[in-house]
Amino acid sequence: MKEDNKLHVEENEKHLLMDHNYDGIQELNHPLPFWWSFTFYGAIVFSTCYFVYYMFLGGPSLRQEFQKDYAVIIAYQQEYKKKEGIFDPELYAKFSTPENTKKGEEVFTNNCMTCHQEKGRGDIGPNLTDEYWLWAKGTPATIYPVVFNGVPDNGMPVWSEVLSKEEIYEAVAYVQTLHHTHQPNGKAPQGVKVDDN
Ligand code: HEC
Repeated sequence: MKEDNKLHVEENEKHLLMDHNYDGIQELNHPLPFWWSFTFYGAIVFSTCYFVYYMFLGGPSLRQEFQKDYAVIIAYQQEYKKKEGIFDPELYAKFSTPENTKKGEEVFTNNCMTCHQEKGRGDIGPNLTDEYWLWAKGTPATIYPVVFNGVPDNGMPVWSEVLSKEEIYEAVAYVQTLHHTHQPNGKAPQGVKVDDN
């Protein structure tokens, strides 16, 4: 064998030399790094557990997990809506200034007039200028929740889905100015008579 072809092993790699020898060809064995083996065997263990849990032990399906998370979101939303739907006298005070009431008139013209008619004399929606009420009692505190939540079954839209809270307070402030005005050609009274001032 010529000197060049002689096996040369570095001093610090001697312990890696494997004991087979094929016509003078020998191999060094560099073991896989620990992190690599750990990830590899870990993945096998994990995927086995995962498969058994989801295939045989009744682990939830993607749809079930989605529905569970979704139910939590819906519950949060409802909680939030309930909170927002409560009349807040401080906000009403803030959004019922003459300037805001004017804006409320605009909100009313753009959104409410189709059903409640000009100056709230009523058409599809009830007359808002008399002393008779179906849901509200003529006060801002009782009108606000009706507007916020609507009466979807009876054709009164859910305004919290369309208008901001500020706009709803402003519209309520405007509706308040219509109360007791008994507009000509108004719709016949509906609901019960409320004696508030
Ligand atoms: C698509 C038609 C429609 C629109 C638009 C509409 N309403 Fe109504 N509204 C109704 C109907 C119908 C009722 C009565 C619901 C019932 O019979 O239970 C009602 C009821 C109400 C009531 C309660 C009246 C009572 O007697 O208790 C208030 C207050 C009211 N609407 C305010 C508004 C305001 C403010 C707007 C605009 C932001 C608006 N509505 C827009 C149809 C409408």
